[in-house]
Amino acid sequence: MRKIAVIGAGQMGTGIAQTIAAHGMHVMLTDIDLATAEAGKGKIEKAVTKLVGRGKIEADAAEALLAKVTPIGEYAPMAEADLIIEAATEKEPIKQAIFESAGKVLAPTAIMASNTSSIPITRMANHSPDPERFIGLHFFNPVPVMGLIEVIPGLATAKDTTDRVTAFAEGLGKEVVLSQDEPGFVVNRILLPMINEAVFVLGQSTAGIEDIDKGARLGLNHPMGPLQLADFVGLDTCLDIINVLYRTTRDTKYRPAPLLVKYVEAGWLGRKTGRGFYDYSGDAPTPTR
Ligand code: CAA
Repeated sequence: MRKIAVIGAGQMGTGIAQTIAAHGMHVMLTDIDLATAEAGKGKIEKAVTKLVGRGKIEADAAEALLAKVTPIGEYAPMAEADLIIEAATEKEPIKQAIFESAGKVLAPTAIMASNTSSIPITRMANHSPDPERFIGLHFFNPVPVMGLIEVIPGLATAKDTTDRVTAFAEGLGKEVVLSQDEPGFVVNRILLPMINEAVFVLGQSTAGIEDIDKGARLGLNHPMGPLQLADFVGLDTCLDIINVLYRTTRDTKYRPAPLLVKYVEAGWLGRKTGRGFYDYSGDAPTPTR
């Protein structure tokens, strides 16, 4: 694959675009308008400038990487893409509208992929022009650092589509886990119940925020505790995913922790809003409870 398009210039979309460009492919980056797409490229520039400053990459490699990222304000140029990756917010109606609009310009042999964390691929494929060329391609945050991509074929996905996106994912230097199209796939099916349970533990005052995170960091050797990780992922995204698990399986073991719902209702969504289980306004994060 030579040319890729990424729809969604947020945390995930920019990380995906950065990783693709770092592996020598051209990437078009789009969002609700050109200004948002350009701001997304700005985030990539900030990330690679940091890497140059830390001696991780050379300045001319950073320049070459940035030259491969083209912000676009409309879908028409995506007709040239071999692969379109949707990385918009985890709301199904928004994703459906994207598949329908981007589907109008999808080239005859190109593939459309969704970076959804949990929404069924088979169901979303019906909003794309060709379910045989539709697949889940789930990246992990921070994308340039994390070594895994989940590949999730839907019921109608052709084997050739799975083979091509697997080769693409491996070409990004990632390992692939192939998952059936079941709620939460493999990783989030395991991760989200853990995060949700940590919020129950907090809500029941079994321990405070720092001790819960310390428990997972030191007792389980996790790089981040579950509440830190929830802030990192975004509490709204965590709630969206646990709700998908709950609603699709109707299994009460996935019911969202009431405190998670409250934080989201308060607009305390984690790092991106400056406050979640931790407050990020100072030099170092401080627990909010
Ligand atoms: N581009 C390239 N490299 C980057 C980067 C970027 N944007 N951001 C960070 N890095 C590199 C740094 O240069 C550094 O490299 P070296 O080790 O070679 O020095 C490395 O990543 C670590 O970065 P930091 O030193 O800044 O930070 P850290 O050591 O505290 O690690 C972390 C940060 C990698 C995020 C680590 O805390 C971690 O692994 N946390 C868990 C992350 C996780 O679980 N992610 C999955 C979330 S779930 C998900 O994404 C799926 C979903 O659907 C919800």
